Amino acid sequence: MIIKTRFGATADGRAVDCFTLSNTGGMEVDLITYGATVNAIRVPDKAGAFTDVLIGFDTVAGHEQYSDYQGNTIGRYANRIAGGVFSLDGAEYHVEKNERGVTSLHGGGELSSAVWQALIVDDNAVEMTYVSPDGAKGFPGEVRFCVTFTLHEDNALRIDYKAVTDKKTVINMTNHAYFNLAGQGDILGHTLKVNADAFTPTDADSIPTGELRPVAGTAFDFRAAKPIGLEIGAPDPQLVQCRGYDHNFCLNAGDGPAAELYDPESGRLLQVFTDLPGIQIYTGNFLDGTRPGKGGAPIIQHAGVCLETQCYPNTPNMPDFPSCVVEPGQPYATCTVFKFSVR
Ligand code: GLA
Repeated sequence: MIIKTRFGATADGRAVDCFTLSNTGGMEVDLITYGATVNAIRVPDKAGAFTDVLIGFDTVAGHEQYSDYQGNTIGRYANRIAGGVFSLDGAEYHVEKNERGVTSLHGGGELSSAVWQALIVDDNAVEMTYVSPDGAKGFPGEVRFCVTFTLHEDNALRIDYKAVTDKKTVINMTNHAYFNLAGQGDILGHTLKVNADAFTPTDADSIPTGELRPVAGTAFDFRAAKPIGLEIGAPDPQLVQCRGYDHNFCLNAGDGPAAELYDPESGRLLQVFTDLPGIQIYTGNFLDGTRPGKGGAPIIQHAGVCLETQCYPNTPNMPDFPSCVVEPGQPYATCTVFKFSVR
């Protein structure tokens, strides 16, 4: 079932709608058209009690004033492009350097701050579309973005990303939800499992150095589930520099979950499935309690963990990374599933 309500309006007066999807088990997902955002996910714990497991905001103003991309759809290029520059077929493109004037982060925030058109396409699915003009934030091609959110009876939220371009371009879309399976406190006691034998270490600007570093013997080894907080304070320069995990993991091939997040207290389990090559694990290191989130509660450090399925960061400048180039006539199409259960 889907219920549509008016969520609010942007500061410049654009209406923002909310679509609440529910299944027969009672799971609910709130989607808002600002940023094609997953704004809330209410799922049961092992005793059957429902809690919202997303950190974020109750209002459009919250998103506009305090956002660290909470729940947003991200693009055109999720994560970073070094120096805000890349080349395609010999042409150099300069894209918005919205991170300290040094790097391009999340496509300059274009998709995450747009108000998307929404359509109920099935009794459990909403499609959101947004057309980005040629040259937006410096990226080539007019691109028609389409994100379809489907809530299944088995408590899986499926997100299908599609994009059609009229010029050769680069695309990397993700969702930036901050999960907290307890719905409160921090996520350091959650266990995490990531199906990755390697990760991409970064420089001081959070740009991958190009090395694919084996996780074996490092704090980045999540091949067996372990608490996120267990080694987050280890004296690994990669962790120190980012105040925790903020890294792309190179996913191993296979059909199983890319990642599993589990809260032993509530018993809630989140399994992430994707066809993409990477996943950014960001443990909310730079959240600092100064911004009010849902219910006015401060968003504290490590309040949530992002599981951002993606192409590797800075792929447009890294010929050895799996390609993110999209051509006319060959639409971009990827899928990520967030499946909830209890254990
Ligand atoms: C964004 C990025 C994260 C992290 C933070 C740092 O949210 O998506 O990976 O780098 O910025 O504030």
